[in-house]
Amino acid sequence: MRVTISVIKADIGAIGGHTMPSAEILGIVRDRVERERKKLLIDAFVCHTGDDIAMIMTHAKGQDSPDVHQLAWDALIKATDKAKSQGLYGAGQDLLKEAFSGNVRGLGPGSAEIELDERPSEAFMVTLGDKCGPGAFNLPLYLAFADPMYSPGLMLSEGLHDGFTFHIMDMDHTEGDRVIVLEAPERLYDIASLLRDTNRYAIEAIWSRKYPNEQAAAVGTTRLRNIAGRYVGKDDPPAVIRVQKIFPATEEFGPAFAVAPFVGGDTRGSHNLPLMPVPMNTPASTFFCCPMVSALGFSMHDGILTAPVDLFADPFWNQVRDRIAEKAIEMRRQGFFEPAMLPMSELEYGGIVARLRKLDPEFAVRNGQGITAATREAAVTADDPD
Ligand code: 13P
Ligand code: MG
Ligand code: MG
Repeated sequence: MRVTISVIKADIGAIGGHTMPSAEILGIVRDRVERERKKLLIDAFVCHTGDDIAMIMTHAKGQDSPDVHQLAWDALIKATDKAKSQGLYGAGQDLLKEAFSGNVRGLGPGSAEIELDERPSEAFMVTLGDKCGPGAFNLPLYLAFADPMYSPGLMLSEGLHDGFTFHIMDMDHTEGDRVIVLEAPERLYDIASLLRDTNRYAIEAIWSRKYPNEQAAAVGTTRLRNIAGRYVGKDDPPAVIRVQKIFPATEEFGPAFAVAPFVGGDTRGSHNLPLMPVPMNTPASTFFCCPMVSALGFSMHDGILTAPVDLFADPFWNQVRDRIAEKAIEMRRQGFFEPAMLPMSELEYGGIVARLRKLDPEFAVRNGQGITAATREAAVTADDPD
């Protein structure tokens, strides 16, 4: 059977800051999705990671279905009314456009979709990020799909041995999608050269090479700042990742996520901290909104989902999280100092730009006679934008 898995995710308000949605707004999204499920969908599951609500839906309408996207948009709009009436922080934060225009992409919510011919045992994961950008998944996905040190299936299984094709998005290009397609392992170093820059390049999709019609992964690459033109919140990407048989095994992703690379995000979306794997429905951390990712494992038959396995909830992850927390605490000790705070290129959508513009006239070029109080005064009063 041909089935599409669509994950649509947004922050429409949270309790007491950027923490987690209220039970009431989650309930509204669940009810709306459940009501429409009978008409449009095969199955659905709703949960949250930090302050983002995720709708995981299966259906036969194909990728980019206006009906399915509209369903998700309407559920978010409806729940935003409640978020406003509850005084939730950032009510409607990720709904950046007034009107729905056929697809949530470009409107604010994150989305990741895969259309597939269901295998007899269709197994997949959904990973949900909070307080991070789309590039946050670059390293774990690279390690799981291209590095035999982490993904022994590349050596041990004929289905994986030919490698995978990486579709990588240039997120700085705002006039349309700018994508490069590179095959691993031949182009491994080129792939690495791009993926290291998580603020600019993000994996958008991964495909099997041995079975070129089989998509392995889809990642949401929406950048809110590109839509809003200013910082309104972090992008908080979702991903759908198929696992087992011709794809890496579920457990091959574990050590890759346990690396917890430093990624841009966390407080005010302006810092670097490690990406912490957390259980489903975890509130954002008051420790500086450390970036987080939850992972849900599903089996599916005729589009009908099992209940999910909470993939970062088993006891092993407690020790991993302790180590990642130490990494985060150590980085926070240096406060505003780079790389704890992001480089200027990433801050240019925030308030620091205006502040630096105000400082600019206070600079003076030394002219051999030194800077006098008078020249400094003249510099301060000249060109003051206020
Ligand atoms: P969210 O994108 O999760 O809303 O976080 C925004 C933020 O600025 C947290 O400090
Ligand atoms: Mg928020
Ligand atoms: Mg969020």
